[in-house]
Amino acid sequence: MTKEIITLAFETSCDETSVAVLRGGREVLSNIISSQIQVHQVFGGVVPEIASRHHLERVNSVTEEALAAAGVDLKQIGLIGVTQGPGLVGALLIGLATAKAFAFALNVPIVGINHIHAHICANYIEHRELEPPFIALTVSGGHTNLIRVKGYNEYEILGSTRDDAAGEAFDKAARVLGLEYPGGPAIDREAAAGNPKAIDFKRVFLEKDSLDFSFSGVKTAVMNYINSEKQAGRGINVPDVAAGFQQSVIDVLTAKTMLAAAMHNESVIVLAGGVAANSLLRKSLSAACAERGIALYAPRPLLCTDNAAMAGAAAYFKFTEKGADGLDLDAYPNMAL
Ligand code: KG4
Ligand code: ZN
Repeated sequence: MTKEIITLAFETSCDETSVAVLRGGREVLSNIISSQIQVHQVFGGVVPEIASRHHLERVNSVTEEALAAAGVDLKQIGLIGVTQGPGLVGALLIGLATAKAFAFALNVPIVGINHIHAHICANYIEHRELEPPFIALTVSGGHTNLIRVKGYNEYEILGSTRDDAAGEAFDKAARVLGLEYPGGPAIDREAAAGNPKAIDFKRVFLEKDSLDFSFSGVKTAVMNYINSEKQAGRGINVPDVAAGFQQSVIDVLTAKTMLAAAMHNESVIVLAGGVAANSLLRKSLSAACAERGIALYAPRPLLCTDNAAMAGAAAYFKFTEKGADGLDLDAYPNMAL
């Protein structure tokens, strides 16, 4: 029965080697995440070649660990799910090659999934009653979108970033502040001790009623502020800069999400992607939603950042509506939703 199908899912789009086992679309039996953050930290960001090599070194042992933690035998696997894009092409290919090998050897169907779709699906795991339609704000290191989710596999993009993704802006601002990679958690932590009103970084809303975003301006404003303070011989108050920057980004994300809900008369909002782990974003959106009688859903932080459980959920929902893919499945670094 499809509802009970056991899925083995692989996620290797960036710097997390993750393998998960799910029963149906919403029950996670195991979700092993082997992070490469420490490997890339010395470079201040993800080095694609190194990421691929580490995926290759780790994917088999992470798979064994996921099966053991789930208490599942390979013979019980009924479906293979794998992230196909967007992401780093070399990294994606390791997951794809592994997933195809299992699908072929076990003679079970395989489905390739879109990473943004997977981020949204993390919410179906966390909130078992959640069903489309709703509006999703997907904010990660590579993407920032407002999406009208019409069905489990049906999307309409309402707005996107025109330059930097929200997570990318966090990572770049953190870098100029001398904080470690990834910058999002570092800024979140520093900002907790800062005054968000000490430095007023601009908020970019673009044209009236636009649901697009632009974060390169605030990133540049942080750089300019740091340079001018240094030139004037003044010290930098890192918590205040982090708090001011974070407030600027979160104010825009909150306002545009509320605008999208109002424009589309939607009363359910879903948060997804790595930046969804941000404490101020969660607080700000939940206050704005409460004021308007809107229901807000977000995964716990572990399911916001990259993991294979969300890929398994996405695979299940794609397979049940659209069926399997072929073994000629390819990687698409710029895959559209
Ligand atoms: O979804 P994800 O794990 O990978 C991509 O698909 O890109 O997102 C990673 C991004 C990074 O830019 C990271 O700095 C950001 O999510 N991030 C955060 C937080 N935790 C992770 N940004 C702000 N606040 C956080 N607490
Ligand atoms: Zn991601």
